[in-house]
Amino acid sequence: MTDSPAASNAESHTAGPGLPEDLKTGHTAVCGLQYGDEGKGQIIDMLSQEGFDFVVRYNGGANAGHSVHIGDEKFALHLLPSGILSPAIVNVVGNGVVMDPQGILKEIDGLTERGVVIKDNLRISERTHVVLPYHKKQDELYDRAVSAARGDAHAIGTTGRGIGPCYADKALRSTAIRVCDLMLPADRLREKLRYIVRVKNAVLTSLASLCGAEFEPFDADALTDEFLVYADRLRPFVCDASSMLRDQMAQGKRVLFEGANATLLDIDHGTYPFVTSSTCTALGVYAGAGVPGGVLEHVLGIVKLYTSRVGGGPFPTELSGDIADQIRDVGREYGTTTGRPRRVGWLDLVATRYTAAVSGVTGLACTGLSVLSGLDEMKVCVGYKHNGQTITTMPADADVIAEVQPVFETFEGIGEPVSEIRSYAKLPAAAKRYVEFVESFVGVPIRMVCVGRRRDQILHR
Ligand code: IMP
Repeated sequence: MTDSPAASNAESHTAGPGLPEDLKTGHTAVCGLQYGDEGKGQIIDMLSQEGFDFVVRYNGGANAGHSVHIGDEKFALHLLPSGILSPAIVNVVGNGVVMDPQGILKEIDGLTERGVVIKDNLRISERTHVVLPYHKKQDELYDRAVSAARGDAHAIGTTGRGIGPCYADKALRSTAIRVCDLMLPADRLREKLRYIVRVKNAVLTSLASLCGAEFEPFDADALTDEFLVYADRLRPFVCDASSMLRDQMAQGKRVLFEGANATLLDIDHGTYPFVTSSTCTALGVYAGAGVPGGVLEHVLGIVKLYTSRVGGGPFPTELSGDIADQIRDVGREYGTTTGRPRRVGWLDLVATRYTAAVSGVTGLACTGLSVLSGLDEMKVCVGYKHNGQTITTMPADADVIAEVQPVFETFEGIGEPVSEIRSYAKLPAAAKRYVEFVESFVGVPIRMVCVGRRRDQILHR
């Protein structure tokens, strides 16, 4: 690290006091329990100061946006794991990630300019799948083509980062490019891209004609030349990451697994089809990092004490009007990746209890309390009504989720700012009542409550 403001901040701002001893041992996964943007980056950044040797991303791609606030500086990370600001930690992009080479290099360059050294502290799995520009084009055209074919607007509202099309190629196999392909001699990569681009151009031309969009076919040679440059820059970071992790874990090194996106966006367990294309839960750790099942000692579920969602899909507790505007403005609820205003609503405990169970969460970390502290009252959803029936579990069908009526429990407002409070015991009684209700409803202990976005605003319990 140099002595730029960023570098000195990263070294001098330590976590708030009192991370309980039990959380200082074993391998840990951190997962979002809502629709993303719960504040995972803050928790991962703090935990990464607590004796972890590795931080591993195991799913998703540049659709994720993890913000790390150190002092008054904000670092927005998309593909780089959130331990990248700590020089002693090795950060791993696992095989379960879909990586945009241009995107990760841009992030590396941006951080390097701010004084962060990225060298031996970054490893990329040779099995990681690569996002190419035709994936982003397909992302852009697909929702439009489906809407045109259906005759109505049916948008998943993706981030446009090529995530779904890249995972689709992973499943299709013959048109996929992995990091190990990027490392091939130039003529072998060129040969591969020539036939893949022929297929992609044919598919994209059809999609474009279906929705009346313009499409300029991709040139395989130009693409190869561009990606060979990225390949050369990424080569020093590439390795057999899963073998390395297994060896290091066998030698007693500790690993923090960083879940991207969130459980309600999980391809299997989220509000399908309004989800992303990867396993965002803790279940994804094993396949997405290539480590044996059962290695996790802790699974921390991150819950924002209200809800936000970006893109399409059901959202039973969604708010509109003044309270929504207040939450969005105070909580700065605008997408880290796309800048889109986020939809906001009350905390949905039916959904949270379900998502905590899916990941086998052992502890909760709650964020967003300072955003709620300015409200006159707070609500949480404790059940759904559908066709006269009360539902207390998460329906599989997104149409049913869109139709349910939330049943709310109302809490009195906190009544005073909380962002300067530095111990859980000193929180106002109304804040503790609300937090402890969440804990008892979900049935998992709350280990941390954040009263702001900085490392020192995490209160341990
Ligand atoms: P995709 O991952 O770009 O395909 O987007 C699918 C859906 O998931 C869209 O509604 C996105 O807005 C949403 N999404 C994907 N990743 C994130 C995230 O990290 N935070 C919030 N929403 C996300």
